Amino acid sequence: MYQKILVPVDGSEHSKRALQEAINLAKMTDGTITLLNVQTNPSAATASNGRVEQNKPLNEAQKIVQDAGIAVNTVLLQGNVVDQIVKTAKDTGSELIIVGARGLSKFEELLLGSVSHGVLEKAPCPVIVTR
Ligand SMILES: Nc1ncnc2c1ncn2[C@@H]1O[C@H](COP(=O)(O)OP(=O)(O)O)[C@@H](O)[C@H]1O
Ligand SMILES: [Mg+2]
Repeated sequence: MYQKILVPVDGSEHSKRALQEAINLAKMTDGTITLLNVQTNPSAATASNGRVEQNKPLNEAQKIVQDAGIAVNTVLLQGNVVDQIVKTAKDTGSELIIVGARGLSKFEELLLGSVSHGVLEKAPCPVIVTR
């Protein structure tokens, strides 16, 4: 019952709210949270060389989850954000994805960002969109 929760994080306040919902739920289900950041900037991806310790969104989120006493995994990938979220949900057998309605971009008139929209369309499991 929602024990494997995937939270894609981009460092935005929106994704921090998504993470807080995931923590609240994981406390109730004795669940595990998998954090995923997808790098879209090739130079950033090369610079970090896939090393999670240099990924700020993952680092920050991991600490928040650990401090809440919840088991946590981190995944760092490159490529198309929606595709990598969907693939990770399948690969890890996630039972729920929790994303922010919006992320880092500035187009605040939009209700949903392109990532949250794409995840809602393609996810292999239920999705919670936080706002
Ligand atoms: N690069 C990314 N890696 C992981 N998760 C992401 C990434 N970009 C966005 N997300 C997730 O999708 C949510 C919505 O972001 P997005 O659709 O990109 O909105 P915006 O268009 O405002 O940037 C974020 O709150 C976060 O949960
Ligand atoms: Mg975005």
